[in-house]
Amino acid sequence: MESMVDLILHKREGGAFTRAQIDTWVRGAAQGTVPDYQLAALLMAICLRGMTAEETRDLTLSMAESGRMADLSGVGGVCVDKHSTGGVGDTTTLVLAPLVAACGGKVAKMSGRGLGHTGGTIDKLESIPGLRTGLSMEQFVGQVARIGCAVTAQSGDLAPADKALYALRDVTGTVDSLPLIVSSIMSKKIAAGCGAIVLDVKTGSGAILHRLEDSVELARQMVEVGRLAGRPTSALVTGMDQPLGTHVGNALEVKEAIDVLAGRAGGRLLEVSLRLGAMMLTASGVFPAEAEARTALEAALADGRGLAKLREMIEAQGGDGRVCEDVSLLPRAARIVPVPSPADGYVVRMDTAALGMASQRLGAGRTRKEDAVDPAVGLVMAVELGQRVEAGAPLAYLHVGARGEEEAAALVRRAVGISPARAPVPPLVYAVVRPEGVERLA
Ligand code: URA
Ligand code: CA
Repeated sequence: MESMVDLILHKREGGAFTRAQIDTWVRGAAQGTVPDYQLAALLMAICLRGMTAEETRDLTLSMAESGRMADLSGVGGVCVDKHSTGGVGDTTTLVLAPLVAACGGKVAKMSGRGLGHTGGTIDKLESIPGLRTGLSMEQFVGQVARIGCAVTAQSGDLAPADKALYALRDVTGTVDSLPLIVSSIMSKKIAAGCGAIVLDVKTGSGAILHRLEDSVELARQMVEVGRLAGRPTSALVTGMDQPLGTHVGNALEVKEAIDVLAGRAGGRLLEVSLRLGAMMLTASGVFPAEAEARTALEAALADGRGLAKLREMIEAQGGDGRVCEDVSLLPRAARIVPVPSPADGYVVRMDTAALGMASQRLGAGRTRKEDAVDPAVGLVMAVELGQRVEAGAPLAYLHVGARGEEEAAALVRRAVGISPARAPVPPLVYAVVRPEGVERLA
């Protein structure tokens, strides 16, 4: 067998790996038998030299198979997973899981915790009193079979190679490599066991990839890997040039999801949710076409079945379902503090990542994995791109707990660009990517 040095040199010179070569170092990463310095050198070589479509597929499958592969066959029907590449104020999962289930879909969702400026669904759900996110595989499958949806924390034994490689990428400048991002995300989705996958690939100031063309290419490659792995995958490329919803934080985003399902809120969050939901229902074969699926989703929203399903899911996981009727039962921050606009003008720019950081500094997110989060804190945006604002009027309201108020206020002031002249508002949905090709919508 070739040594790790041979493999590093092979990639450094621009060579392509076979599946057997990939398995050698992926297994070594998962088992901790290849030293970090050699893995780091190899990751940098991949970052600089890239990978072919076949290598990316092989890497994804090798990583998926580096640990346990979830078996969802007990659910009965095609399970569909939805994954976002990471956004701010993006609580689509909490809208979609119940809404799609209310329309006959089977949503078995494994989610993560927040890290850095992006939130995590598991942290959001844990702000609901009593709710359990550590379901056993049997509980998870049983709940989806019974009520159509469940959201649980991703178990540590899925794709362990990704855990090792991601930790190294984070500290070696090798995060933004397409084959490494594609294999990282898709290996976890494939190991999580769903028959169909719908992706929300973000682009813009709050996304992992800021440039539209890079985000479309990421979506294209993930859709292709899903196809090659026998898991039909489609993707939406959506804008992260401002938070998706108005609420950023844990309990705050649960409240916004409830507001959407109750028909009290809508906007960008609802539009992206309906589009993704229609893709999920067609991907799993519940509806033949997206237009019909969308009509069904709108009906389930209008007659309250989506909200009733959320309550059912919360209660199935041990949480207090009364939050669906009375959001004041969710944790609430001690103080709500407006951040005033420094000038008259139009909102022309938002640094979405900085807004996510502001929420994190208030205690809604983590700097290190072991940090605890404060479920109550975060911020609620009072403006959106294109809006006119007067000096002194609020840009956002901070929901403040024990820390971070001044830093968060400064981040928000810097993140929101005010100009005397209007600027075009960027689109919300840029493209739909399917195995057949890329459809541009903007
Ligand atoms: N999310 C992941 O899980 N992996 C990446 O590489 C990037 C985003
Ligand atoms: Ca190690």
